[in-house]
Amino acid sequence: MAEPGRRLALVNLGALATGPVAPGPIRHPSWYDVGVVRGVGVGIEDDRVALIAPDDEVGEWYHDAAVPDTVVDCGGRLVTAGLVDAHTHAVFGRPRLEDHARRARGEDYKAIAAAGGGILSTVTDFRARGEDELVALALPRLALMASLGTTVVEIKSGYGLALEPELKALRVVARLRELVPLRLVATFLGAHEVPPEFRSRRDGYIRLVVDEMLPAVAGAGLAAFCDVFCEPGVFSVEESAAILGAAARHGLGLKVHADELDPSGGAELAARLGAASADHLGAISRAGIDALAASDTVAVLLPGTLMFLGRKGQAPARELVDAGAVVALATDFNPGSSPGANLPLMMALAVSQARLQPEEAFIAATANAAHAVGLTAEKGRVAVGLPADLVVWNCRDVRELAYWYGMPLAWRVYASGRPCHAPGPGISSAGSPGGPLSPPLS
Ligand code: NIG
Ligand code: FE
Repeated sequence: MAEPGRRLALVNLGALATGPVAPGPIRHPSWYDVGVVRGVGVGIEDDRVALIAPDDEVGEWYHDAAVPDTVVDCGGRLVTAGLVDAHTHAVFGRPRLEDHARRARGEDYKAIAAAGGGILSTVTDFRARGEDELVALALPRLALMASLGTTVVEIKSGYGLALEPELKALRVVARLRELVPLRLVATFLGAHEVPPEFRSRRDGYIRLVVDEMLPAVAGAGLAAFCDVFCEPGVFSVEESAAILGAAARHGLGLKVHADELDPSGGAELAARLGAASADHLGAISRAGIDALAASDTVAVLLPGTLMFLGRKGQAPARELVDAGAVVALATDFNPGSSPGANLPLMMALAVSQARLQPEEAFIAATANAAHAVGLTAEKGRVAVGLPADLVVWNCRDVRELAYWYGMPLAWRVYASGRPCHAPGPGISSAGSPGGPLSPPLS
């Protein structure tokens, strides 16, 4: 028998919400089984959940350890799986402060791009920065995400738009993977925009993506997925289909930035190609909703983006759920349309702006988000034998995660058993960080 490893015990939980009992995406009508268990603690051995049992059993198990670590008294707090952020562009250089100010002056996306802002301004900035600097900039962003309860992060390239800088973006993700305990999933988004040098010959850029970038990315094993910004004025459905078809032949999973601002059939394309996800969907058509509902393609909704851009509406989350689609939530963290990576805030927005129920928002940011990044078997729920991605929250009820909006609610965070966030000394002279924000459930 293998030697017992490093052991850590979480005891005195208010509740454990395991998420779905079986792996797999959740769709209508089984959204409400968030798996609440009371009277149990959790034992972690090395990177895995080793035990879910009454506190006294967890205590006994812990004291048998060859290398005991810590017993954490959770003080009646809620424990869940770590959140999964299934859509980010987290590797970039400088923020786009000017775009934000221009929008407040009433300028729209196209006017901002024409005035030197937009994605292409990030591309210019990104190309000029070295790999080490991009790693150094991404690290505190990931640390902040972990402190908010996120333990899995999908990260896209797409600010390089040429072979070498696209590879640089994906190498940065590979290096970050060695530096943080979070699980990072890399997506190649060479077709994020047509770069300026190809503006008069866009076919040439698509050939570059298909004939040079995809083979290099897939050959080096630098990405699990390929994504395309399928949007009127960016890449058409036909162009997107050509790029995604080539990506599938290279063995990459598929994702689509679909129907973000205007409808063009991106959701239908994603469903037809069996893509892992169709993301954004702010302007999805009824046919698109029906296509996703009839498929296993996850509808990844990004409520922070439309809010930050000052748009009136949101993606039709309620209709997607009711139609039977697999719905997930993500932050879209990027310097242009969503410079925020607070996934519980996205859950709150999904409830208040897009009519998801709080339990639905929880499943959408855990189990279904894990499905969108190909990690259904391992992430997004708590079970013995799975990686110990666990969050102890400063609250007691799963519905509170989508309630205390914008408040950093995570009290302790573990990614693959490694602590990546702990409370500070608190504000009282006794140094107590206090208890959860809410009283015990009656
Ligand atoms: O998901 N839609 C395309 N890409 C990003 C925006 C990226 C940017 O503006 O830098 C998005 O919203
Ligand atoms: Fe995006």
